[in-house]
Amino acid sequence: MKDLMELLRERRSIRRYQDRPLSDEQVAALEEAVLRSPTGRDTRSWEFVFVDDRELLNRLAATRGSNSAFLGGASLGIVVLGNDKVTDTWVEDSSLAAIIAQLAAVGLGLGSCWSQVRNREHAPGETAEDYVRGLLGIPDDLRVLCVIAVGHPSEEKRPTPKEGLSFRKIHRNRFKPA
Ligand SMILES: Cc1cc2nc3c(=O)[nH]c(=O)nc-3n(C[C@H](O)[C@H](O)[C@H](O)COP(=O)(O)O)c2cc1C
Repeated sequence: MKDLMELLRERRSIRRYQDRPLSDEQVAALEEAVLRSPTGRDTRSWEFVFVDDRELLNRLAATRGSNSAFLGGASLGIVVLGNDKVTDTWVEDSSLAAIIAQLAAVGLGLGSCWSQVRNREHAPGETAEDYVRGLLGIPDDLRVLCVIAVGHPSEEKRPTPKEGLSFRKIHRNRFKPA
């Protein structure tokens, strides 16, 4: 298994996938990975819908035009839900699960990409959350953060070179000198 820095370097948003399923072991590893993600006060405020049905993936791909189209070619969509009645850290809890799924995917030799749902529109007058809720039978009291597309990559992306990182965003001790 690669070490964490290697996974962090290798993780890129992969939006093109081969037309073949994940193995049962890969799906089981992704399930275990998201369930190991930390949550505030250990509330485990998330829920997940693992979608591998081709028709449903195609309909998820239609959530937000080109911002979600790649889900149509994915082998799996992990729909990341949160419960805002349980905790005010549901966005953080669900986001951590989502990125852990993406890192676990790299470790499994898979590619992934985040498709944002929360605070986005499906069509005029219909939120992306309502569209996904309706499609998958998700209860009204659960929030939909995002869908993580996962598949065997059919595009190669190099790690962002270290010189391309925004080191100016790192501040020492104080944001501005006193
Ligand atoms: C909160 C969040 C929302 C994102 N939403 C989308 C999205 O809706 N569609 C998409 O194609 N990529 C989406 N992305 C992927 C970003 O575009 C991508 O991470 C960024 O361009 C950096 O590229 P990299 O992931 O290859 O390093 C999202 C990423 C994050 C963290």
